[in-house]
Amino acid sequence: MPCPSKSDDLVFFVNGRKVIERNVDPEVTLLTFLRKNLRLTGTKYACGRGGCGACTVMVSKRDPLSTKIRHFSITACLVPICSLYGAAVTTVEGVGSINTRLHPVQERIAKSHGTQCGFCTPGMVMSMYALLRNHQQPSEEQLLEALGGNLCRCTGYRPILAGGRTFCVESDGCPQKGTGKCCLDPGGNDASSLHRESDICTELFAEDEFQPLDPTQELIFPPELLRMAEKPEKQTLTFRGERVTWISPGTLKDLLELKAKHPEAPLISGNTSLGPAMKSQGHFQPVLLSPARIPELSVVSETSDGLTIGAGCSLAQVKDILAERVSELPEEKTQTYRALLKQLKTLAGQQIRNMASLGGHIISRHCYSDLNPVLAVGNATLNVISEEGTRQIPLNEHFLAGLASADLKPEEILESVYIPHSQKWEFVSAFRQAQCQQNALADVNAGMRVLLREGTDTIEDLSISYGGVGATTISAQKSCQQLVGRPWNELMLEEACRLLLEEVSLPGWAPGGKVEFKRSLVVSFFFKFYLEVLQALKKLAKFMADGHHYPEISDQFLSALEDFPITGPQGVQRYQSVDSRQALQDPVGRPVMHLSGLKHATGEAIFCDDIPMVDRELFMVLVTSTRAHAKIISIDSSEALELPGVVDVVTAEDIPGTNGTEEDKLMAADEVLCVGHIVCAVVAETDVQAKRAAEKIKITYEDLEPVIFTISDAIKHNSFLCPEKKLEQGNVEEAFEKVDQIVEGEVHVGGQEHFYMETQRVLVIPKAEDKELDIYMSAQDPAHVQKTVSSTLNIPINRITCHVKRVGGGFGGKVGRPAVFGALAAVGALKTGRPVRLVLDREDDMLITGGRHPLFGKYKVGFMNNGRIKALDIECFLNGGCMLDDSELVTEFLILKLENAYKIRNLRFRGRACMTHLPSNTAFRGFGFPQGTLITESCITAVAAKCGLPPEKIREKNMYRTVDKTIYKQAFSPETLIRCWNECLDKSSFHSRRMQVEEFNKKNYWKKKGMAIVPMKFSVGFAATSYHQAAALVHIYTDGSVLVTHGGNELGQGIHTKMLQVASRELKIPMSSVHICETSTAMVPNTIATAASIGSDVNGRAVQDACQILLKRLEPIIKKNPEGTWEDWIEAAFEQRISLSATGYFRGYKAFMDWEKGEGDPFPYYVYGAACSEVEIDCLTGAHKKIRADIVMDVCCSLNPAIDIGQVEGSFIQGMGLYTTEELKYSPEGVLYSRGPDEYKIPAIADVPEEFNVSLLPSSQSPPTIYSSKGLGESGMFLGSSVFFAITDAVAAAHRERGIAEDFTVRSPATPEWVRMACADRFTEMIPRDDPKTFKPWSIPIA
Ligand SMILES: Cc1cc2nc3c(=O)[nH]c(=O)nc-3n(C[C@H](O)[C@H](O)[C@H](O)COP(=O)(O)OP(=O)(O)OC[C@H]3O[C@@H](n4cnc5c(N)ncnc54)[C@H](O)[C@@H]3O)c2cc1C
Ligand code: FES
Ligand code: FES
Repeated sequence: MPCPSKSDDLVFFVNGRKVIERNVDPEVTLLTFLRKNLRLTGTKYACGRGGCGACTVMVSKRDPLSTKIRHFSITACLVPICSLYGAAVTTVEGVGSINTRLHPVQERIAKSHGTQCGFCTPGMVMSMYALLRNHQQPSEEQLLEALGGNLCRCTGYRPILAGGRTFCVESDGCPQKGTGKCCLDPGGNDASSLHRESDICTELFAEDEFQPLDPTQELIFPPELLRMAEKPEKQTLTFRGERVTWISPGTLKDLLELKAKHPEAPLISGNTSLGPAMKSQGHFQPVLLSPARIPELSVVSETSDGLTIGAGCSLAQVKDILAERVSELPEEKTQTYRALLKQLKTLAGQQIRNMASLGGHIISRHCYSDLNPVLAVGNATLNVISEEGTRQIPLNEHFLAGLASADLKPEEILESVYIPHSQKWEFVSAFRQAQCQQNALADVNAGMRVLLREGTDTIEDLSISYGGVGATTISAQKSCQQLVGRPWNELMLEEACRLLLEEVSLPGWAPGGKVEFKRSLVVSFFFKFYLEVLQALKKLAKFMADGHHYPEISDQFLSALEDFPITGPQGVQRYQSVDSRQALQDPVGRPVMHLSGLKHATGEAIFCDDIPMVDRELFMVLVTSTRAHAKIISIDSSEALELPGVVDVVTAEDIPGTNGTEEDKLMAADEVLCVGHIVCAVVAETDVQAKRAAEKIKITYEDLEPVIFTISDAIKHNSFLCPEKKLEQGNVEEAFEKVDQIVEGEVHVGGQEHFYMETQRVLVIPKAEDKELDIYMSAQDPAHVQKTVSSTLNIPINRITCHVKRVGGGFGGKVGRPAVFGALAAVGALKTGRPVRLVLDREDDMLITGGRHPLFGKYKVGFMNNGRIKALDIECFLNGGCMLDDSELVTEFLILKLENAYKIRNLRFRGRACMTHLPSNTAFRGFGFPQGTLITESCITAVAAKCGLPPEKIREKNMYRTVDKTIYKQAFSPETLIRCWNECLDKSSFHSRRMQVEEFNKKNYWKKKGMAIVPMKFSVGFAATSYHQAAALVHIYTDGSVLVTHGGNELGQGIHTKMLQVASRELKIPMSSVHICETSTAMVPNTIATAASIGSDVNGRAVQDACQILLKRLEPIIKKNPEGTWEDWIEAAFEQRISLSATGYFRGYKAFMDWEKGEGDPFPYYVYGAACSEVEIDCLTGAHKKIRADIVMDVCCSLNPAIDIGQVEGSFIQGMGLYTTEELKYSPEGVLYSRGPDEYKIPAIADVPEEFNVSLLPSSQSPPTIYSSKGLGESGMFLGSSVFFAITDAVAAAHRERGIAEDFTVRSPATPEWVRMACADRFTEMIPRDDPKTFKPWSIPIA
């Protein structure tokens, strides 16, 4: 077997161009290669673990067996560059470009408003593009499948799908499905005559303007690669790197020889298991064997008894193979294949299924494997091969447990898998339950098979395997044996549950937690299987051989059977059209596309880390504490400093100025306060060198007491970050004495990770003169970064310039934190005299930066029997983490906003931020409102339950009705609130649907529907006048083009687009003549954070001011030459020495709050809204489906309805995530487990409500805002709670039916675990319960 000592050339193509890599390093991934070597930065890094799809590209390869070219999407972050030998890679840059030709996918995603921050967009484009390369007119199902592995944190997915749907075969892709109207109806759908119901528009883009898809324009598969593939080299290719050698043999014989020579070397197939393990667990393999060029591993063959699938087939190929078999073979033979197909539908995202191999999946034996339980019960056999020959190993519990006698020998490889057909009277099913429906690892999954004696209900053979309940797939062999011979009936079911719970035992401390939930799934799944088999038996034969009936399933119980389908959202977006007299050139009020939309879609939009490497640049990696509260005894960097490429280690001692503030240190000096506290930082020539060195830093600690993680512990220790904030009105105590009833309850709301797709990053470039620094970053408050760097380095602010081009999502997480990273990178730059780049990994970002404050609230509410609330007393505590950060402000906002939409005469609100030894929590969209208001709304549902009235009646009864004053005595009119509420009731057909829900619930025992409608009064802005000031700088150049700079940052919320709309209206020139380059502290100084929903408003006023100043100066010239063009006037102005540059300024809305008196006018205005959601829950698994959501939002006169609707939808979905799936998990030692998309589930495309309608309420007032347009950035978050209350409404229906008493402890998020355990039934009663005092749990609740 040839195995030369020199490295071979790696040959592949990228975007039609040949790449030859002479000394390729096998440790390099395609993502790194594209971004660093080829400078193709359109492909983004967001998680590095295959879980988000931001790095999606398309790979094309010639299939050696079918000889066809396969095009498939993959996640570049997991693809080793060496695996691409002979492949063609297409990146977003290869698909189309603004400068040459836009691809229809790029055009449509941008024009359908499917991009906000744009960081996910290239990945979305590539997933859609790969789909279209295989299916020119895909089905809606295929579209959803293709996008299932792509996360977007901004848009809420609806507009992305709307763009994608325009390619779909069902041309019912009309976004107005369900309204009886269609945007394709005559009447035109160009931007100027969008579909109208009187003055209401229901279209946000004009589909007939889109260029058609023309497949002949696509890049062809390179002929050179085709020739290479047709005459494959048989010799072994070897790529030698510094630490790792990659060997890719050309024949099976060579592979087996190599495996014998390197028995420890893994076979690297899809790398979706090895890759993440090597990264996160530090598994290092010096030799990697690639089976990619061995056609024998992809062979598929069929006999009359079963199917043999090559181990090298990807899971996507396995899916296609099985689907084909299922369509051709009789149903009785395909039971196992159907069960596998069911699992494959939701197993990971499309990209992972394209990469992962069947062999790699089986051999990895992950405890969460979705296929192994089914393969095990289906009696699959592994065909293994070595130089010694072939043999078969059963894929059974011994193999899965890794017993040496039942496993592959080190020199063997898996060649193929044999899966037998099922037979008549045999039934196979698969189950899984995960935090969300798609692209989430299962909490528990199962494969179940039963063979009944022909014509009877007697069990002849039974196998059950579970995943997620042990270290690997577990087989319930003993239980199954004991049930053989039993009839398939209720008695057997009881006995089976008992046996299963005994055999599949899970200790209370089991890794992964959710122990009781998992136990109940073990039996719930079996119950589902029991019913499925009964159902199938009925189809097979009415009577048994002995003439008896098979047991009947009562109609009520049938609801246990169906799983929720994966569907994409349909719906209507309504907004007020502009006045027909408005000038066509004037873009204000029109649904103008995001300014960077097309650049996002082509990958040409430059984000911070896309800036090319600068001369002598270094990379910084942070080293963080592994202890929650400890004294730093020593930091030993000697070993790290000796490693190649390492330049320096930066500690607190290197800070020339101040190390943050006393409460908020940038870097730990002598004491660490949480796991994740920054202790020091390594600077090295490359990121890889810096990361390796960081691992070698040895820090010794001495643990300190106390260690506090939970709110209850903080209360016990009197551990608070700031004084209590309190507001009170009326006489609460007296009122409690006069009411009919009183309820007390508790509310726990978990925290939330920002999960902006672009992690924190900064590039600091020191200049040669006068200590000047240029800082490029992803931040919401560059002026704060500038100030912090100034005090840290002890140099004046005027030497530091911060630049923000665009931010890949912020949501509050890039208000305060970027200053820390900017300052540390600046210290590194100062110390080394070289530019420093800092890009946080997703894991580090999640660990270090904190997020939304978890909340614990106690309430006491007094009310009359008719539902009128007379007194409300709320005390709440936030988990602030270890530093003050924004915790005091968040507490204040929480208290100010707690009353929401309700007028309650006697109120007392108290709030405190707890100091705990967790990473410091910080600003997050809504700033306390989404957590706090959940308490208020929970009071409403508690009152409703006690009064026996529907919650919406209690809401109506207690809502503000007339001009009134808030608890802090600010006057306002609730007219719009009432309009939103009524319109939402009306648009959602609330009352008739409520009756249908009740009907459904009567007929279905295991599925329940729930509905809820919530009102919202959201105060916009900061509670301080100085925080509302804004400035802008507008230059007009001699060619007439205009450059606008303002103090707001583009976070995806479309602020720059809106500013151009303002400038265009004011200067009366087209938007295309105006440009915004970046936000820079040198252009507009002393800016305020872009936050609190007020950015576009206040900066819009500043831009307006600047434009009006300029126009005033131009007035005499225009008057003199009214027929002249803009360019003529500008030329004349220049000649006449009129300044063509102006600063605009907005002094800010007056806002103040006197906490002593509990009075003030803290907010400039309110945004009102209402949302109604309907869900269906599966009581047996805890899963839920969002059937419909209707939102009515008051924006008054929208500046840009497409952008505003995008904000409403995006924040609603983000809120829905907060209240349903996003769960932070901390160990009892304070270590955050949930540090990536695998463990932390933000909503994916399948989580969006099936019908999703948004209406912007037509204007009726004139708020003091720019063109009466209100800021909508945050308010939609809270409306996501309508989904939460719909889920709890469904659970309450289950409680009523089962006679379970109402529980007044509310927990958010309403995860499947919570729902399942709340829907107590005979199965939850069976499970063993643990005494919490007897074990240390895997994770602790911190709220
Ligand atoms: C983001 C993400 C989401 C996921 N979601 C799910 C999910 O929802 N459900 C689920 O079940 N799984 C999920 N997975 C796991 C995924 O199914 C496995 O990682 C994958 O199937 C492994 O296949 P691979 O080809 O990538 O293996 P590799 O990583 O290439 O290899 C894994 C192991 O298999 C060995 N191996 C590979 N081929 C052979 C062979 N022919 N003979 C002998 N040994 C071999 C290797 O030596 C190695 O030890 C997910 C993974 C990722 C990254
Ligand atoms: S960065 Fe590759 S999938 Fe997230
Ligand atoms: S637009 Fe999708 S993550 Fe921002």
